[in-house]
Amino acid sequence: MLRSDLKNMEKGNSLFEVHVRKLTVPVCKSFLGKNGRIVPVAFAPETRKLSTKDSAEVAARFPKVAGLCRNRLLSAGKAQPKPVRGKRVAVLFSGGPAAGGHNVIAGLKRVLGSGNQLFGVKAGPKGLLEGNLFEVTDDAVRNITNTGGFDFLGSDRTKIKTPEQFEAVKKTCKDYRLDALVVVGGDDSNTNAVFIAEYLFDEGVQVIGVPKTIDGDLQAGKLLPISFGFDTATKIYAEMVGNILQDTPSSRKYWHFIKLMGRAASHVALEVALQTRPAVALISEEVAEKKSSLREIVDEIASVVVARAQRKINHGVVVVPEGLIEFIPEMTGMIGALNDIMGRQEGLAALALAQRRELITAHLDETNLSLYNSLPGFIQDMLLLDRDSHGNLPVSQIPTEKLLIEMVARRVKELDPKVKFSTNNHFFGYEGRCGAPSLFDAAFTFNLGLTAGSLILDGRTAYMASVTDFHKGGRALAIPLTGLLNIERRQGKEEIVIEKALVRTNSPAFRYFAGRRRAWAEADCFSSPGPRQFWGPTSKQMPVLVALNQGYSNLKFNM
Ligand code: FBP
Repeated sequence: MLRSDLKNMEKGNSLFEVHVRKLTVPVCKSFLGKNGRIVPVAFAPETRKLSTKDSAEVAARFPKVAGLCRNRLLSAGKAQPKPVRGKRVAVLFSGGPAAGGHNVIAGLKRVLGSGNQLFGVKAGPKGLLEGNLFEVTDDAVRNITNTGGFDFLGSDRTKIKTPEQFEAVKKTCKDYRLDALVVVGGDDSNTNAVFIAEYLFDEGVQVIGVPKTIDGDLQAGKLLPISFGFDTATKIYAEMVGNILQDTPSSRKYWHFIKLMGRAASHVALEVALQTRPAVALISEEVAEKKSSLREIVDEIASVVVARAQRKINHGVVVVPEGLIEFIPEMTGMIGALNDIMGRQEGLAALALAQRRELITAHLDETNLSLYNSLPGFIQDMLLLDRDSHGNLPVSQIPTEKLLIEMVARRVKELDPKVKFSTNNHFFGYEGRCGAPSLFDAAFTFNLGLTAGSLILDGRTAYMASVTDFHKGGRALAIPLTGLLNIERRQGKEEIVIEKALVRTNSPAFRYFAGRRRAWAEADCFSSPGPRQFWGPTSKQMPVLVALNQGYSNLKFNM
C-alpha cells in the first residue's frame, strides 16, 4: 500500500500537486458572463495616451503598429467581441522562468474556447525560429494548472534580430497558419514582441505580450503594478531569509550575506526586506543615486556589524541585490566599457579565459583597468562572461556577496579587532522562480491569459495584457507596447527598448523601508513570514511594495 501510494506520487503527483491543480482562482468580474461562465471581453480605447521621451522616433520606426494603436490604452468593456472561430494562436515563454506561466496558458485556452486552437512553442523564441510547435489539449491544461515552472513549453533567451530570423518566424507562422502569437516575457522579450508585431503586420498575425519576470522590473505605475512571478519568488525568498534570521539569534555566531536574484532592479531585495526586516538591505538604485562607492558601502555594513557587537549582538543578515555591482558608480563605468568592448569584438566566445582577458583589458582605459585589476580574481573572471543575446551581463554568476564579505571583514578588523565576525554566504535565485505559484500569481496569470486571449479575439496587435486594481476585483487592461519604448545605449549601440522599471527612492515602499531600517540595524526586529499558503490566512496576501506603491489600504488582494 505504502509503496503503491509512493509510486503514484511520482511525475508531478504529490498530494500537494494533485490538490492544487483543482484550486479555483478568482477571476476579474469583466470575464464572468451569465451563470458565472468565463467569457472573452472586447476592449475600448481610453482617451489616455502613453508616451516616452522617444515617442516620435518610436512611431517612425513602427509605422504600422504605432499608427494603428496611437499609443492609446485599451480597457475591458462590458461587451464581448463578435464570436470568432477558427483562430490559430501560438504561445511561447521567453527568458527566465516565473511562477504562473502555466496559468497564462490555462487562461488563454479557456477564453479561446473549443472554436479556436492553441499551440505551444517549445523552448522559447528559438523554437519559433525552428518551427517547433505542438497543439495544447484540454488534458494537458488540466495537468499544468496552478503548477510552477515553465517545463510544459521550456524557454530560452534568443533575441530575434536578424532579417533571416524574422523570415524564419514568418515561415513558422505560415507553416502553422497562425493568426496570433503570445509572447510571455520580460522587458527585453516584450520589446522583441513589438518588432515581431511590426514585421508580421501585413501577414495579419497579431502579437500580444504578457508581463513576466520575477525581477519586477516590468511595471507601469497604476497600469501594471507588477509582473507575474514576483510575488511567488519573493514569498519563497522571504521564507528562506526569515528562517535564516530565526537561526541567527539561536546559534548566535554568524553574519549571513544573502544575494537575492533580480538582475537590474532591487524590487526583490526591497520586498524581501519589507517582509523580513534584516539588519542591512542594500538597494542598488539608492547606491547609484547617492553615488556611493564600494568603499562607502563596505564602511556602512562594517559600522552596523561593530555597533551590534558593542551591544553583544554578533549576528545578523545582510541582503544584497543581485545587480548591485552594476550600480556602484565606479563599477558602472567600468562594466559599461567592458560591455562596449565585448559588443565590438567578434569571436570572443571561442577564446579561453586568459586570452579573452588579455584581448578585452587591452582596450580598457587606465582608470577602468586599475579598478578591474583591484578586484579579486573570482570577480574579474565573471565580468568577462558572455553577455546574453539582449546584451545583459550575467550578474547571477557574480558572487558580489563574497566580495562584500571579504571587504567588510577587513574593515571590521580595522575598526575594532576584538569584534567576532563569522560569516556565511548564500545566493537565493533559482529556488524562487519555479515554485508553485502563490494564489496571487495563480490568479494574476490566469487573468492575464484571459486578457491576452480576449485581445486576440478582439483583433488587437502590439499590446501587452495587464491586470490592475487588485484591491477591488481586478481590471483587465491592454497597454500599447510602443508607448513603453525608448532609446537606450546597450553594448555601445543605441537600441529601442522598454525602459526597465527600477526602485524609485521616492516611492512609498522605499520610503517606508528607509524610515525603519535604522531600527532593524540596531536590534533584532526581524519577523518570519512563514511558508506560502494556498488555503490559509496569508494565502490572499499580495506583495507589500505593491500595496504600498499602489496606495491600497490593506495587504489582501480582493479578486
Ligand atoms: P528574466 O528577466 O528573463 O525574467 O530573468 C530574470 C532572472 O531571473 C534574473 O533575475 C537573473 O539574473 C536571470 O534570470 C538569470 O537567468 P539565467 O541564469 O537562467 O540565464
